Amino acid sequence: NLSVNFGNFTFNKVLLNASGVLCQDANDLDLLLANTHTGSLVTKSSTPTAREGNPLPRYFALSDQMGTINSSGLPNHGFQYYLDYVLANQFQTDKPLFFSIAGIAKQDNLDMLHKIQASDYIGLTELNLSCPNVPGKPQMAYDFHATATLLAEIFTFFTKPLGVKLPPYFDLAHFDEIANILNQYPLHFVNTINSIGNGLVIDPETDTVVIKPKEGFGGIGGKLVKATALANVRALRQRLKPEINIIGTGGVTTGRDVYDHILCGADLVAIGSTLSVEGISAFERIENELEQVMTDKGYETLDQCRNQLNII
Ligand code: DHB
Repeated sequence: NLSVNFGNFTFNKVLLNASGVLCQDANDLDLLLANTHTGSLVTKSSTPTAREGNPLPRYFALSDQMGTINSSGLPNHGFQYYLDYVLANQFQTDKPLFFSIAGIAKQDNLDMLHKIQASDYIGLTELNLSCPNVPGKPQMAYDFHATATLLAEIFTFFTKPLGVKLPPYFDLAHFDEIANILNQYPLHFVNTINSIGNGLVIDPETDTVVIKPKEGFGGIGGKLVKATALANVRALRQRLKPEINIIGTGGVTTGRDVYDHILCGADLVAIGSTLSVEGISAFERIENELEQVMTDKGYETLDQCRNQLNII
């Protein structure tokens, strides 16, 4: 039994895609929706109007499933496309949906949230505060003051279920600081982590960067980020008020990785790099592996293992 209670929502499965992977077009979203091993889907982060994104190549997968680097630059079909998708599908499925938005300016986020508030959308909204790939635009959630100001303004009018997608933090003082801000608002969830921003991968044959945008700098995902992801899930679970659920994202290639996220306190677990490399069949494989780990440990439900990390 892999069901998950998440505030007022129930998910029948624990896995979903990480935003950005297999979720830009309606036919990709349809695949996620139809897959019996996903509990939900999240849409590609949208901006008020459509964007082409950064020049190609902008995505590269390292060998041996080590990880990925991307600097897509928010290519998307625009806010209305994804709103239309969730409105058309929210009553056709028993999966609660996540609608991701990533305004480049503060006002973009406020405008999109006003439209979601005014719409018939009943699902969850994921406000992405952590895109590292728009040239000249820093990751919002590394600016604690700007984040606090934005959330204060949002909660003057937004009453639907809202969460934030966070970048990885690397210092315990920063975990304290972001948790203190988030705990002041009626957030439904946080999703941690986005890619580790602005890594650099080199092709040893040619001494050349592997992606074109930003002279090769891009967000790192996959196995390379697992330890950072687990630390962020754990540190935030220890600091956030219990009613804020956590989506653990980062470094999941196996069922054991999902189990590790849950030990650290994740409620749902999202798959990015592995989904991009392996395709939709990754969900069934990883779910089966997770069930085997739980059986071996004598656990029947995720509630029994969540937050059960042992320390020495
Ligand atoms: C993109 C990457 C991200 O990590 C993100 O959160 C949003 C957008 C991108 O490059 O498209």
